[in-house]
Amino acid sequence: MSQEFNLKMINLAHNIAKSKFGQTFPNPTVGCIIAKNSKIISKGVTNNSGRPHAEEIALEKAGSKSKGATMFVTLEPCFHSSKNGSCADQILRAGIKEIFISSPDPDKRTSNKSILKLRKNKVLVNVGLLKNKTHSLNKFFFKSIKKKQPFTKVKLAVSDDEKIAWSNYKSKWISNEYSREYGHKLRLYSQAILTTSKTIIKDDPKLTIRLNKNKEIHIPIIIIDKNLKIPLDSNILKNISKKRVIIFTALKNKKSLHLTKLGCEIIYCKQNINNKLNLKNIFKKIYSLNISDILVEAGGIFFTEILKNKLVDEIHLFKSKIIIGQNGKPAIHGKNISKLKLSLQETKKFRSDTYLNYKVV
Ligand SMILES: NC(=O)c1ccc[n+]([C@@H]2O[C@H](COP(=O)([O-])OP(=O)(O)OC[C@H]3O[C@@H](n4cnc5c(N)ncnc54)[C@H](OP(=O)(O)O)[C@@H]3O)[C@@H](O)[C@H]2O)c1
Repeated sequence: MSQEFNLKMINLAHNIAKSKFGQTFPNPTVGCIIAKNSKIISKGVTNNSGRPHAEEIALEKAGSKSKGATMFVTLEPCFHSSKNGSCADQILRAGIKEIFISSPDPDKRTSNKSILKLRKNKVLVNVGLLKNKTHSLNKFFFKSIKKKQPFTKVKLAVSDDEKIAWSNYKSKWISNEYSREYGHKLRLYSQAILTTSKTIIKDDPKLTIRLNKNKEIHIPIIIIDKNLKIPLDSNILKNISKKRVIIFTALKNKKSLHLTKLGCEIIYCKQNINNKLNLKNIFKKIYSLNISDILVEAGGIFFTEILKNKLVDEIHLFKSKIIIGQNGKPAIHGKNISKLKLSLQETKKFRSDTYLNYKVV
């Protein structure tokens, strides 16, 4: 098949992978095409929550037509066993003749092992076509595996003078409704939301995804609450049976037992000499819970802490034209956002608000 056709197929595989963006956590979203004699036989994309894999779906759809066909897949097929055996074994059993893989899998259980196995078994293996597309689509996956901590995005609405709240914490929106709607999309594309007890006490947020009036989507909520200060009547604790709420605390008492009984997962941590929790350890623990991607929705004190600890990958800023004044609560303590080392990845206008998506460099 021509180089032009191969490129078209691997591009198409990326487009179908994109259709599942944000729905396959903690697994990456992968697209797969099987073609023969320059015609597509079948397509597959990772199913919700990561299983079955794209290759399994495409192979099943293709059936015996896979024999002698070419597979185009955005990530190296898995080497470790699943219900029907590894994807590498399924590809061999199906008689695929040639395979185009955009990127090797960084997961140690697979990393280059499937590529080797396929080559050993006389499959023609081509690696690297549109590799960058796979990496940018699944940034959370590649980064979280490398650092063994979740890919961390911070969502902040700031006034024109970089404040995130009024001096008396009075409840008032900084960004407009269009920005807030996009904020819900950012939640939808995240595996979990991380917040602080203080933001819960001041704002009593629901932290649900409300893009549609009749539907409220729940994703796991992680709370940093050293002294277990969250009120028991907080919105976060309502309808708890529909949610996963994880609380990191230093306290073990009646309230922690009560929260456990309610259905919260309580994770105890020691305080360090500054009477704080070790955020680096907490992020490692979050990763060990199979949570690879988080959206932080908290105030400036916490944002400053995670920046100091080099835990932030991206900042999603909604900048409004409101001026709060110098007594307002700052987005970062002791620094301006403009002084951070950032690279602008995307910008959008939501009426008078500006959305800026930065990568922390
Ligand atoms: N504009 C926005 O986008 C946005 C988003 C979210 C929230 N907010 C606003 O932000 C305001 C709160 O901001 P804030 O800066 O005052 O508070 P914050 O950043 O939400 O939370 C600060 C608290 O987090 C805890 N914390 C931080 N680092 C910690 C560590 N290493 N170990 C243990 N605990 C740690 C401490 O709580 P304890 O020591 O008390 O346990 C600390 O007081 C609210 O008014 C809310 O409306 C704005």
